[in-house]
Amino acid sequence: MDSYIDWHAARAALEWQLEMGVAETISETPINRFEQVAPPPKAGVAPGVSAPTMPVQAAPKVDPVAEAEAAARAATDLSGLQAAMAAYPHCELQKGARNLVFCDGVPGARVMIVGEAPGRDEDRIGKPFVGRAGQLLDKMLAAIDLGRDRDGEQAVYITNVLPWRPPQNRDPKPDEMAMMLPFLKRHIALAKPEVLVVMGNISCQALLGKRGITRLRGKWDEVDGLPVIPMFHPAYLLRNPSAKCEAWADLLDLNERLTKKD
Ligand code: URA
Repeated sequence: MDSYIDWHAARAALEWQLEMGVAETISETPINRFEQVAPPPKAGVAPGVSAPTMPVQAAPKVDPVAEAEAAARAATDLSGLQAAMAAYPHCELQKGARNLVFCDGVPGARVMIVGEAPGRDEDRIGKPFVGRAGQLLDKMLAAIDLGRDRDGEQAVYITNVLPWRPPQNRDPKPDEMAMMLPFLKRHIALAKPEVLVVMGNISCQALLGKRGITRLRGKWDEVDGLPVIPMFHPAYLLRNPSAKCEAWADLLDLNERLTKKD
């Protein structure tokens, strides 16, 4: 179809827009106004004299991942890390979330579980895995004598790849995962687990750089020298109960590693 619009029609359309109160043109690409530089002050210019044109100063380039790495590195304990995450300004998810969901369970536990991101219940309460998937996770852990409310050898510690709920529970975006990964890695280093359990594709992607949980599950891997077992996410098990037998096999495998005397 010919999209040509003649001069008169274009002018009429423009005038109509002005009448409707349109004050500026907007391009098809979004503009981040937070990154825009304020115009140079006009002070000191005599009336009638045009101000010298000032060179537009480019906004300093921000590298969200490098900033996350520096902030995470500077945290020397878990509460410092939580504060650093709360102060981190580059993840848009924070703006739409009610709570920063940091952890539950016992720091220093032998087992650390890494889920994906908070859902509605977690966002409301401020703790990971408190909804239906969390209740199933608790049952799975109890089946091998572990729990977030247990002490000593039976304790577990729980966190997520992302501390803020994505809108409508959508999958985390690659840039959101990349900028929050340094915090997750520091979280693991400070919590000092013996074993990591990564639940679902998003967690595998973040920590192992791999997707395909059906293929990855139950196969021990390694992250920064720590043994890692990928498992099906409990939310997946709620939707696919027949996969519970594989999850059970993985739990037994985890239990064997934890109880093995060397
Ligand atoms: N699913 C997750 O991966 N984490 C939670 O905290 C809740 C649901």
